[in-house]
Amino acid sequence: MNKTPAYKWYRVCGTREIPAKEGRRVQFGDHQIALFHLGNEFCAIDNACPHKQGPLADGILGEGSVFCPLHGWKIDLKTGCALSGGLGQVKAYPVRVVEGDVYVAFGEGRLCANA
Ligand code: FES
Repeated sequence: MNKTPAYKWYRVCGTREIPAKEGRRVQFGDHQIALFHLGNEFCAIDNACPHKQGPLADGILGEGSVFCPLHGWKIDLKTGCALSGGLGQVKAYPVRVVEGDVYVAFGEGRLCANA
């Protein structure tokens, strides 16, 4: 049986609320994600670095990745996998933009396949 995931999309902000090449924290109850505006798209991952829970939304953006502001681990924004620094992962969430609003499918995060 082919089972298609049923995402529940949540509007988190307008596209103009996050300047290009910056991130913001988004709160869902007691859970926090980091939402990034890459210039031509948005990405969302958990806002807790797999090393020691550093706030990834405050990190420095690289090419498709973010560097944790605490110790510099590099996290892939599409997969949530640590690319350098050590082994680890965070959840990455589906994001879509509709008519100037950014939506995140919170609760449907995917984990890195090789973690
Ligand atoms: S807490 Fe992120 S690199 Fe240490």
